[in-house]
Amino acid sequence: MKELDFWHPVIQSQDLKDKPLAVTVLGKNIALFRTADGKVGALEDRCPHRRMKLSKGKVEGDRLVCPYHGWSIDRAGEVKAPIHNNEPMRSCATHYMAAEQHGAIWLKNAGADTPLPQLHKPDHRCAFVMRHRMEAPLEVVLDNFVELDHSVTTHLIFGYQNVTQASAEVEVDGDVMRVNHRGPQKQVSLPLKLMFGVKEGDWVQVPTEMRFSPVSMISEQLWTNDKEPGKVRSPGTQMVIYFTPVTDDITDVLTFTFVSPKLHKMMTRMPFLGRKVLYTLVDYETKLDQEMLANLADKDPNLRGMKLGRLDKPLGQVRTLVNRIYRGQPQPVRVAESA
Ligand code: FES
Ligand SMILES: [Fe+2]
Repeated sequence: MKELDFWHPVIQSQDLKDKPLAVTVLGKNIALFRTADGKVGALEDRCPHRRMKLSKGKVEGDRLVCPYHGWSIDRAGEVKAPIHNNEPMRSCATHYMAAEQHGAIWLKNAGADTPLPQLHKPDHRCAFVMRHRMEAPLEVVLDNFVELDHSVTTHLIFGYQNVTQASAEVEVDGDVMRVNHRGPQKQVSLPLKLMFGVKEGDWVQVPTEMRFSPVSMISEQLWTNDKEPGKVRSPGTQMVIYFTPVTDDITDVLTFTFVSPKLHKMMTRMPFLGRKVLYTLVDYETKLDQEMLANLADKDPNLRGMKLGRLDKPLGQVRTLVNRIYRGQPQPVRVAESA
């Protein structure tokens, strides 16, 4: 199994219009195009004739036409050349399977027998998807998303007020890793208290599930309060996040925000208060992570030499599971010194 045998979301659907688009996934340069009837095609971005970038070409009907000598290729990689009377040629161009789901375009290797992931709660709807490019290798990006220690200092409203009472319980169950984060909710401004129902003295709990085929994370936020024993409050959102390596050093994070039927109704009635505010917050908080990752002095994914704390426990497990399931390369993980 290779990484690209799993479906990976690569861009938002709205970014692919009638012109082809060049993308890079796992170091492979791919030309995306939309046929006249709206289907998405994905070809190696290199013409089989004399290596022109196909993403510089144009779409005619259901084919992508190379700008250099006019060879044309369809979604299945079938090649026709004017010099051969545009008869289908025996050799094919390298193509990928493409699909659209939840407002994103997904790719995988042609012929790979893996299903499109459906990780959201069945009654939830995708409100929006966004893509953030992180200037860091996959593991280093996952390190940021799998611990909430950083939320105290990095984030605006997401996460903890202080880290001293925070905890992270880690459990690996076959191919799934669960981390249950819990700590005192960060103090937030009055409008946000009103919007999300956050109260004084709240504790936030973030149950998170990670899967590695492809690498993804599902999480939600729940609030509890000692004054209301047994009561758990939820804003009605579920985040499903995919981590798509662009190269060894760059990772795209695609965040799908799913909302409960109740929240969806509210967002439809009040698009500004609902959708726009939620979109802006998710985007803003993710950009704060993006900035931290861009400014790391050393982006080597190796944990050796780091002084890890008690909330960094999931980092080693993540590497083991990424190597075993996603990369198909079981490798022992070196454990860093404790702080
Ligand atoms: S290089 Fe593409 S048609 Fe010649
Ligand atoms: Fe973060």
